[in-house]
Amino acid sequence: MKAMLCRKYGPPESLVLEELPDLDPGPGELVVRVHAAAVNFPDVLLMSGDYQVKVPPPFAPGSEFAGEVLATGDGVARRVGDRVAGSTMVGAFAEQVRLAAAAVTPIPDGVDYAHAAAFGVSYRTAYHCLRSVAQIEPDDWVVVLGAAGGVGLAAVDLAVGMNARVIAAASTPEKLELCLRRGATATVDYHRERLRDRIREITGTGADVVLDPVGGPYSEPALRALGRGGKFITLGYAAGSIPSIPLNLVLLKGINVEGMEIRTFMGDHPQEAARDLQELQGMLASGAVSPHIGARFPLSDAALALRHVADRKALGKVIIDIG
Ligand SMILES: NC(=O)c1ccc[n+]([C@@H]2O[C@H](COP(=O)([O-])OP(=O)(O)OC[C@H]3O[C@@H](n4cnc5c(N)ncnc54)[C@H](OP(=O)(O)O)[C@@H]3O)[C@@H](O)[C@H]2O)c1
Repeated sequence: MKAMLCRKYGPPESLVLEELPDLDPGPGELVVRVHAAAVNFPDVLLMSGDYQVKVPPPFAPGSEFAGEVLATGDGVARRVGDRVAGSTMVGAFAEQVRLAAAAVTPIPDGVDYAHAAAFGVSYRTAYHCLRSVAQIEPDDWVVVLGAAGGVGLAAVDLAVGMNARVIAAASTPEKLELCLRRGATATVDYHRERLRDRIREITGTGADVVLDPVGGPYSEPALRALGRGGKFITLGYAAGSIPSIPLNLVLLKGINVEGMEIRTFMGDHPQEAARDLQELQGMLASGAVSPHIGARFPLSDAALALRHVADRKALGKVIIDIG
């Protein structure tokens, strides 16, 4: 099987396409023939060795995929040929991936491999955040930073579906236009407008919730635009720096600051995580939500796909088509 390998930590361009032996499943595992993998920002960080979790090279990056079951180990109920999607730390930028059978979910009829792969990590992250952590209500003003990115646009889609009023904040008119088409109520171009002032102008009394997968210089003005008792959820630092927020801002308005990390959330809150996953599967199956795919690349161009994300060009999800 072919795989895109990171042989030592480095930029996306250091990936190499190699032929590797086919995979065999162990007990409780299955091997999936990958048809589509989605790119996530952490893939770039894992490759460069800058992620909070270190995976020693060599490894194929890629943490979410969709495909069909190729082989099953002892004790696995799924059948060869079943259409499944799943997530893993690494390994998805390859023709085959091996993982625990419990880590995959069936792909509903009518959903293609690319959209099934794109629906994984970003939508789960955004939904746990909106549904279980922030517990948003209809008509809440929900600010999404990096709103046209993978997690960002998933949050826009899901918050719109939950009847919140979404303020999409992003860096270009093209990104904001996409957010409006997906149902955002208002936008802020944080390269051209003052983030805090514009949110206050739109909401009057301040926002109810901020979802922040970006960090850097955007977090503090967004937090300052919250109303009394508002909630600020920190998700990641795609801007490259972790902001330091003066705690008096939190005290003065009784703001709740929470972090949400998908792997620890699932372990710490298994009941909410299971409920959220079931609800997401229902939305995917019914067509209530369908991820926006902004760009597609063949496996041999996986480096270009990662570069596209690293260079802030992604609109929604970036997909790698693999056979
Ligand atoms: N907490 C969790 O469980 C969890 C799960 C998945 C991902 N994450 C984190 O969430 C963040 C977003 O992931 P993603 O897969 O949605 O990535 P993405 O699609 O690349 O989106 C990231 C967004 O960040 C903004 N950004 C600002 N400065 C940037 C810079 N210097 N380089 C790149 N992007 C920059 C961009 O929007 P603008 O150009 O509009 O600013 C971009 O759309 C990452 O930090 C990731 O680690 C967290």
